[in-house]
Amino acid sequence: MNMLTDADIDPAPLAGKRVAIIGYGNQGRAQALNLHDSGIDVVVGLRGGSGSAAQAEASGLAIALLEDAVASADIVMLLAPDEIHAYLYHEIEPHLRDGAALGFSHGLSIRFGFVEPRADLDVFMVAPKGPGTALRLLYTEGKGMIALWAVERDVSGNAEGIALAYARALGCGRTGLIKSSFAEEAEADLFNEQAVVWGGVPALLEAGFETLVAGGVSPEVAFLECIGELKLIADLIEARGIAGMREAISNTAELGAVLGGPKIVDQALRDRMADILNEVRAGKFAEALRSEGDAGYPLLDKARSEARASAVEQARLKLKGVERRS
Ligand SMILES: NC(=O)c1ccc[n+]([C@@H]2O[C@H](COP(=O)([O-])OP(=O)(O)OC[C@H]3O[C@@H](n4cnc5c(N)ncnc54)[C@H](OP(=O)(O)O)[C@@H]3O)[C@@H](O)[C@H]2O)c1
Repeated sequence: MNMLTDADIDPAPLAGKRVAIIGYGNQGRAQALNLHDSGIDVVVGLRGGSGSAAQAEASGLAIALLEDAVASADIVMLLAPDEIHAYLYHEIEPHLRDGAALGFSHGLSIRFGFVEPRADLDVFMVAPKGPGTALRLLYTEGKGMIALWAVERDVSGNAEGIALAYARALGCGRTGLIKSSFAEEAEADLFNEQAVVWGGVPALLEAGFETLVAGGVSPEVAFLECIGELKLIADLIEARGIAGMREAISNTAELGAVLGGPKIVDQALRDRMADILNEVRAGKFAEALRSEGDAGYPLLDKARSEARASAVEQARLKLKGVERRS
């Protein structure tokens, strides 16, 4: 693995260039502000009547309608939700300058064909490995978030330099940049979202909570045991790795982990993980995402209201009330 940092990266490819950030959500806000604070000429491109315009302006950023922002920029970063990239690209394509660079923070739209960029465009990816809020916070603390980068198409001969200078201006080069590809980033990211951190872990926490409650344990104690300790473990793993985490806990907890972990994560679970990876690679998830957006998010709306009404959420709110009163 070749990890690049600031010292390896020439900032010159962004000198005198204008970057249009399309979308001012989680990533758009963080990236626009980090670039701006790094001295880059940034314009935020928003749709007419956007509720984000006032916030972006109040932060000292230039804003413009999508088509004007795109037409004025050398580099255009698509930072709106992935499921609308096809529609959004169609809207902005006529306004893209000849030979501009088109950037993404996720490989999905290129890997699964949501966007087929015009032949004259450079196409690159800088994908910070974490949420925009953390990308911004780390930057303001003088630190940076690790990122993957890739070049899908280099028409100008400068695409690699642009991608790296862009990642540097985000602050990611303070920690490190790993070369990847749109396909690798998209497949690994979608797999993790479903099978591990965003899908698997919360489902495991809830299943543990429900098992304890069904076994007669009070919801509040079940919550504290199964969910309340997650941050402590996450912090330990982040600081010391899984091996170091094991050494930092009691022998009782460590033996429980050694005996219980393999019973839960057995071969059947690993087989289901492999199924998820295969489905991701076959494009099934990308198709589901696009259909969900087209249909107005029925599955997400249902899941959100079920989560708010769940026993685990009720236990959390009760405990929060106790914390507030104490
Ligand atoms: N979330 C993360 O931290 C994260 C981490 C790594 C990579 N990424 C990638 O970064 C990209 C952006 O994700 P995100 O989570 O930051 O998106 P997001 O917060 O959902 O993006 C919201 C922004 O998109 C704009 N938008 C939505 N629909 C639009 C439309 N039809 N036309 C024009 N603008 C529209 C919104 O405009 P209004 O302001 O007008 O509502 C808003 O400014 C994605 O490719 C994602 O995979 C995200």
